[in-house]
Amino acid sequence: MEKYVKVSELKPRLSELRKDRTVGFVPTMGALHQGHLSLVERCRSMCGVTVASIFVNPAQFNDREDYRRYPRTLECDLEILENAGCDIVFAPTEEEVYPERDNRVFDFGTLDKVMEGKFRPGHFNGVAQVVSRLFDIVNPDKSFFGQKDFQQVCIIKSMVKQLNLTTGIVVCPTVREQDGLAMSSRNMLLSEIQRKEAAGISRALFHAKQQAGVMTVTELRDETIRRINLSPELKVEYVETVDAAMQTVSEWDDAEEIFACVAVHAGEIRLIDNVQLK
Ligand code: PAF
Repeated sequence: MEKYVKVSELKPRLSELRKDRTVGFVPTMGALHQGHLSLVERCRSMCGVTVASIFVNPAQFNDREDYRRYPRTLECDLEILENAGCDIVFAPTEEEVYPERDNRVFDFGTLDKVMEGKFRPGHFNGVAQVVSRLFDIVNPDKSFFGQKDFQQVCIIKSMVKQLNLTTGIVVCPTVREQDGLAMSSRNMLLSEIQRKEAAGISRALFHAKQQAGVMTVTELRDETIRRINLSPELKVEYVETVDAAMQTVSEWDDAEEIFACVAVHAGEIRLIDNVQLK
């Protein structure tokens, strides 16, 4: 596996490889787990060259403490990527990614006014800044993202459209622990008891999936909140039922596809998850 820190060294290497191979890209913030590896695996199956980036992007953290606490496990991540058959890893410094201050303000309309966008002001602008910058550096044919970050996927698709980018966005299923907890880099920050209780999040979501069409949308939302909050370790921030375009849905007939999305606090740690209800 080749490792690059400098944009000026990565770019010419990728130009060379692009002559006879498609370039696939898996952007990450490190602290890699099986979910990331599923993206690498999918990328390898669809592209000639697999590039992964590791960069904890300060611009997308609205909370300094969350940024400080975010797990950084570079050496271990490099080993994981190497073993997964990743061809190139790009692990830049902040100066490489943002040689100048990025003052761009994206307009995502209603997409970022709900859920993560509402509770983490500025988060998606920071995601769009870094992902567009990384796309500019790597110029991938395809890029791979997890369904767990459902709203992020909508935002990135919108950004790709707005900037007329050509990279294809491939969305891969959420990977779960044995007890159903969606894999996340933040899971390693949970205490033993929080980790155990966090399985209640996906349990409540899967119960909601079973009850879709039986209960009303509002009843199901309230029931999901109630079930998660049963654990004293968990506190729901929101449960939203939305369509594929992030519009809030209140009737089962409102949309062809309906998703239940949640954010939950386990102490200081914030976890998100979603399931498709319909
Ligand atoms: O999903 C993530 O890990 C991050 O938001 C991303 C896409 C790597 C941008 O920093």
